[in-house]
Amino acid sequence: MRDRYILAVESSCDETSVAILKNENELLANVIASQVESHKRFGGVVPEVASRHHVEVVTTCFEDALLEAGITADDLDAVAVTYGPGLVGALLVGMAAAKAFAWAHQLPLIPVNHMAGHLMAARQVKELQYPLMALLVSGGHTELVYVSEPGDYKIIGETRDDAVGEAYDKVGRVMGLTYPAGREIDELAHKGKDVHNFPRAMIKEDNLEFSFSGLKSAFINLHHNAAQKGEELGKEDLSASFQAAVLDILMAKTQKALAKYPVEMLVVAGGVAANQGLRERLADDITDAEVVIPPLRLCGDNAGMIALAAAIEYDKGNFAGLDLNAKPSLAFDEMAD
Ligand code: KG4
Ligand code: ZN
Repeated sequence: MRDRYILAVESSCDETSVAILKNENELLANVIASQVESHKRFGGVVPEVASRHHVEVVTTCFEDALLEAGITADDLDAVAVTYGPGLVGALLVGMAAAKAFAWAHQLPLIPVNHMAGHLMAARQVKELQYPLMALLVSGGHTELVYVSEPGDYKIIGETRDDAVGEAYDKVGRVMGLTYPAGREIDELAHKGKDVHNFPRAMIKEDNLEFSFSGLKSAFINLHHNAAQKGEELGKEDLSASFQAAVLDILMAKTQKALAKYPVEMLVVAGGVAANQGLRERLADDITDAEVVIPPLRLCGDNAGMIALAAAIEYDKGNFAGLDLNAKPSLAFDEMAD
């Protein structure tokens, strides 16, 4: 059988990325141009700055990906692109580039949900078994998703306020860490102890919802009160206490979800899935399902994960017209229109 090649584009936040996937699972290229240095001094992503950077590098990313994969545009079978959720200006840059490329080379366009991409990055580890459960933890989302079959996603629980990655970045800012702070807090947490005993919101409630804003406020209040008294609380213990609360919440709700929807596989994905503390807790606490976590290089935003999700949409014949629009608040169960 002839090989199939999909080129995928991701630009929903602060990474411009173009990947090339051969057949179902072989990533030939995954070029990622990160803008994180430009956003650091603002302590978060500035949408206008993000859009401008995407415009500057997107064409080079296409060229580099094709070069790295050792193929030409003529070898391609489809172009996939993230159309939401994300920053509208940022999404539009990647979409305009993907559409123009698809049109110029007469290739079909595959619309991909960014969060489905995070989830399907797990396909690089092993073949997924359905139905499965996914815990998606990123800078913008915290969701439990039930996947009955490839491409069929149902949100069964999500955060009522902040996303977990967002909470990491906010408390990191309060401690004077650079953005994004998740990784550094994770490292500090391993050197400290849970001495502050922050609240674990809704942990006992019999639902699959998350809340992190109370934890964030408790952290900020403790930090400010100590600062007013001229006390310095150690970053290690603060980080360990924050991370312990986050992990207790994530584990409690994931275990509730698995009890309610028994499945054999749990996929944990998104930027926060890079967290070593989370990986340790999953290994210790999840006994009734196999845990699959994408490799570290596919946890943060990248087009490789978009290509892996696109392969499923290709098999289902889910293509979009060139009038496909960006959907900044795209939900899991919405289809492209
Ligand atoms: O998935 P992602 O790259 O972008 C979004 O789609 O949001 O996630 C970025 C988030 C940031 O909030 C970052 O602080 C967090 O993932 N993150 C981590 C770790 N590495 C990245 N959070 C906790 N521990 C980590 N090791
Ligand atoms: Zn993401």
